[in-house]
This record gives sequence, structure tokens and C-alpha cells, in this order.
Amino acid sequence: MTVQPPTGPRHVAIIMDGNGRWAQARGKPRLFGHHAGAKRVREIVEACPHAGVRYLTLFAFSTENWKRTQSEVAGLMSLFRRYIRREARELRDEGVRVRFIGDRVRLEPKLVRMMDELELMTAHNDALHLTIAINYGGRDEIGRATKRLAREVAAGRIDADSVDETTLARFLDTCVLPDPDLVIRTSGEARISNFLLWQSAYSEYEFVDTLWPDFTARHFGDVCRAYGQRDRRFGAVTA
Ligand code: FPP
Repeated sequence: MTVQPPTGPRHVAIIMDGNGRWAQARGKPRLFGHHAGAKRVREIVEACPHAGVRYLTLFAFSTENWKRTQSEVAGLMSLFRRYIRREARELRDEGVRVRFIGDRVRLEPKLVRMMDELELMTAHNDALHLTIAINYGGRDEIGRATKRLAREVAAGRIDADSVDETTLARFLDTCVLPDPDLVIRTSGEARISNFLLWQSAYSEYEFVDTLWPDFTARHFGDVCRAYGQRDRRFGAVTA
């Protein structure tokens, strides 16, 4: 089997880490860092077409982030609403299709309504597929998918003996997305924190020292270009 050398990544997923430290270094509250981080989201979305990226997935709030103070959580939820309110029209007009992954059950109904509306109003777009993970955890996603699959088996609609990895993947939040080619984590931490556990089985990882609010389109372009030098073998042997 000949494995073609990759060019740019088609799907980039990002763990946007370092907002709190960025704010702290300026003597500001953590939410100040999250607001600065939201501005970078816009810049990176705009940079995707230049880097040949068709799918961008962003980790905005994890299933573990509820452990933060009530005021930080409320501030983040309000920031997500504000982002949707401010960016919706431009995202639609720029051809961006927005999707949200994660468990919506614990989210406030107003935010869920706004998420649903944004998904609907961009559903016809295809230039860039932007997926935002809110109340998302890889283990939680696999758990929810397994529960739904088990119900289908119990109802006799799926034969248990036919279940394999492609069957389970159909029940994941990401069922319509390709696996990420490249996962970037900013801020110098080298861990995956429950992000896209299933989907990143063969992803390339890039851990960059820059804090998320300082991560520019230029950094993004550099990381995407460097990806082109990687030798992705998917368990095979390079010819
Ligand atoms: C992690 O940094 C970041 C988050 C938990 C929030 C990410 C949210 C944004 C970038 C805001 C906007 C997002 C969208 C999609 C509108 P941290 O706070 O854990 O940083 P620290 O490790 O320095 O404390």
C-alpha cells in the first residue's frame, strides 16, 4: 500500500487553552481572557480557507468545566450567546456551516435555542464546516452513543453481532464529520483533556506554547504548513 504524503490538513481541531493565564498575566479576571479568546476564534475561522482547511472544530467548554466558579461558567455561557448573536449573520454570509457537539441537556434553554437557530440558518453552507464543542467530553459522547446504540439493539433494529466500530461511529455527535487530521493545543500543556477521544485515534498532534488569546492567523498558518511535513502512515509502512 502506498501512502501519499499529506499536504495541508483538511480537518483541524483546537483545544483553545490559556485564556485564564493570559488574563492573569495582565492582572485581569479570567473572563477578560475568554473575551480575548473569542476574538481569536473569528480570526482563525477567517484563516481557514487560506490554509486549505475545510473543517474546524473548537473545544469551547468541556463536561469538566462545570467545576469552575459559578461566575466563570455563567460568563462563558453569556459569551457563547454573545458570539452567536454577533457572528451569526457573517458566518452565514461567508458560507460557514456551524454545528455544535456535546450534550445539550445541561445547557440553558436560551443558549440551546440560539445554537439550533444558527445550525439551521447555516445548514446550506459548505465553504467551511465549523463545529463548536460545548458541554463536550469524549467519554461522555461515547457513553451517550453507546446508550443509543444499545436501545437500537434492544428494539431489534440492529443485530448485536453486526456491531463494529463503524456502527458506533454513526451514533457519535461527530457522525457527519471526517476525523481530525491535526489537533492543536495552545498554552504549552501536552494533554488531550477528553477531547475527540475516538476521532483522534490517528490524528497528528501539535502542542504550541502560545496562549490562545495570542494565537494568530500566522501561527495557525505555520502549524498547518508544518503538518505537510508529517509522515502519516495509519499503521502502514511508507513506500
Ligand atoms: C481554556 O482556557 C479555555 C476555555 C475553557 C474556554 C474557551 C472559550 C473561548 C476561547 C471563548 C470563545 C469561544 C467561542 C467558540 C465563542 P483556560 O481558561 O483553562 O486557561 P488557563 O489554563 O490559562 O486557566
